[in-house]
Order: sequence, then structure tokens, then C-alpha cells
Amino acid sequence: MQRVTLMTNIKIAPSILAADHARLNEEIKAVLDAGADYIHVDVMDGLFVPNHSLSVQAVRDIRDAFPAAFLDVHLMIVEPMKEVEAYARAGASHITVHLEADTPENIARALGIVRGRGVRTGLSIKPATPASALEGWLEDLDMVLVMTVEPGFGAQKFMADQMDKVTAVRRMLDGANPDCDVEVDGGIKPDTAPIALAAGANVLVAGSAVYGSGDYAAVMRELRGEAR
Ligand code: DX5
Ligand code: ZN
Repeated sequence: MQRVTLMTNIKIAPSILAADHARLNEEIKAVLDAGADYIHVDVMDGLFVPNHSLSVQAVRDIRDAFPAAFLDVHLMIVEPMKEVEAYARAGASHITVHLEADTPENIARALGIVRGRGVRTGLSIKPATPASALEGWLEDLDMVLVMTVEPGFGAQKFMADQMDKVTAVRRMLDGANPDCDVEVDGGIKPDTAPIALAAGANVLVAGSAVYGSGDYAAVMRELRGEAR
């Protein structure tokens, strides 16, 4: 029964990391027009991950251009406590921080700041972090993000070995916080999306699968499991 409920609540979150940044507004408008639920904004600081990407200014600019868009901001940065306020002010709809990015006390502070600004909260774990690390965190979250690649780069191979973790997280949430979403990020394509959905994910981040496709609407329908 739970599975049926979840399948009606599938959200597609194109990652603009894979978009053409010289035409970023056009690229965002195109996926929104094609049915994207969220715009996934990857923020990388070169420390938490060995790559740099978008920052506060990008979130502000996207918010200005798209006042109604749901901006799903994925912070792959160390000490997110110091930055979340700025991302909330810039217009994030949702902010996900990584459990591995600071001490538990400081991660709790970061989430508290986000919540205090009325912004939705997410907590993410990297592939090497077990589901059990989330014990004690789940009650107040709006989303758990289970990484299905090592964070840092787009277009990597989907890690199917993370699916047991997705199922474990979904089961933990069914007890602790049933309304909380489970997002997967990395290597999500029409052939891997059904695996992630069956495991219990309901929010699918897809960068290269969407932006690398010639037909954004068709690929998002495929990711949802709808016929082309
Ligand atoms: C990776 C990022 C992802 C990335 C996904 O660290 O968090 O959001 O953009 O890219 P694809 O869908 O191409 O694997
Ligand atoms: Zn991401």
C-alpha cells in the first residue's frame, strides 16, 4: 500500500549542473515548461567535493527570474551552518546539507537555521554512510537525499548497491516521519529510475539524462514511468 502512495508522489528534479550555463535561464524555463517539479541546484565548494559549482548569487538570480519555481538546493559544502542563512535569503525553497559536512551539533544548527527561515530541510548521506547514521535525525526533515554516486560530478554511473539503503531509509521514515520524501541523486536515467522508485525513492534528480536529451518532456515522462 505504501508503495502505491509513493508512486503517486513522484517528483522530477532536473539538475542544472548539466545545463548549458551560457543559456541558463532558457534551460531552466525549458524544463519547467516540460513538467519539471523542482529545479535541483548543486552547490560545490571545492572542499567537501573536488569540484566547484553554483553559489548564492545563482540561487538569487534563478529566484528573481522564476519567482514560483521550487528550488531544491543541494549543498555539497563544508560547515553549511555558516552558509545556509544566505541560501535561504537568496530564495531556496528547500536546502539539503550533508551529514558528513560537519559535526552533528553543527549540522543540527544548520538545519535549525533553515527551518527557522521557513525553508524545507533535507539531509544527505554519501554512498559510504550507512542508513543507520540517520537515526535520530529523521523526525524533523522534509527530505532525505541518498546519493547514488559519489557527490562532485554529473554523468557518473548509478550505484545500484545503494538501493538497499534507500529501502532502509524509507522504512525508517514510515515509522518516524511518513511524509518525508526520499530523493536519489546521481546516474538517474530512464533505465535506473524504476529501480530507485521500486526501492522507495520518490524524488528523482536527473542532470545528464534530462539535459542530454533532445526532448525534455519525453525523458521526464519516462523517468516517472509514464509511456512516451
Ligand atoms: C552530483 C550532483 C548531482 C548531479 C547529477 O554530485 O549532486 O545532482 O548533477 O548528475 P547526473 O544526473 O548526470 O548523474
Ligand atoms: Zn545534487
